[in-house]
Amino acid sequence: MKSTWIESIAFPKVFLNKKKALQAFRGKTILITGASEGIGNACCILLSKFQVHLILVARSKEKLEALKEVIVKNNSTATILIADLYKEEQVDHLIEHLCTKQTPIDIFISNAGKSIKRPLQNSLLRYHDFTRTNSLNYLAPLKISLALTPILSKQKGQIVNVSALNVLLLPTAQWAAYQASKTAFDQYCRSNQSEWKKMNI
Ligand SMILES: NC(=O)c1ccc[n+]([C@@H]2O[C@H](COP(=O)([O-])OP(=O)(O)OC[C@H]3O[C@@H](n4cnc5c(N)ncnc54)[C@H](OP(=O)(O)O)[C@@H]3O)[C@@H](O)[C@H]2O)c1
Repeated sequence: MKSTWIESIAFPKVFLNKKKALQAFRGKTILITGASEGIGNACCILLSKFQVHLILVARSKEKLEALKEVIVKNNSTATILIADLYKEEQVDHLIEHLCTKQTPIDIFISNAGKSIKRPLQNSLLRYHDFTRTNSLNYLAPLKISLALTPILSKQKGQIVNVSALNVLLLPTAQWAAYQASKTAFDQYCRSNQSEWKKMNI
């Protein structure tokens, strides 16, 4: 599909140096949320070409199992962890699992996200739109990153936030729940950047 001039400025073409990528990723353990669909799924398929271990998090077991088959065919390995990140107790369970096993995570990709576009007038009785986007787009990745900080520090690891372009733009109407939650996690990451750097993250 041909892109418009504005799309080619906002989303310039990215070329992947496969040799460098293999050097950078081979043997790494990568935790990724929202692996079952969309960007997360595509990201896992791409990364699986570089001999990595992927820890896949989402709610849809069948989709993650199908993804695992592709990953294994590409000579990487995968662990499936089912979690509904709307639910704090499931976030805690996921964290407990990762921390008790002291899984040596090198990269945490925070990708799972919920997007909502709704006029304010239709949102007056929908406080849950705000709690849902806040819990998935902000509080869950925040809690996971806090818990993984000692492991990532030890591994000289990385945190990758799949953010949204609109966090850098002026706020737009009808996107309040989504934009507020994505901006909150973006600010959290950017505020921590210098401190994470001192911790080797
Ligand atoms: N697509 C875009 O145009 C766009 C633009 C800007 C930013 N982004 C950001 O990019 C990221 C990925 O977007 P996408 O378009 O690829 O999304 P998507 O296709 O809707 O996929 C969302 C992923 O998140 C998972 N997820 C949703 N709710 C979950 C929950 N409660 N607990 C655990 N996992 C959950 C889904 O898995 P299950 O349903 O199996 O749980 C799925 O794997 C998001 O953070 C989004 O904000 C996307």
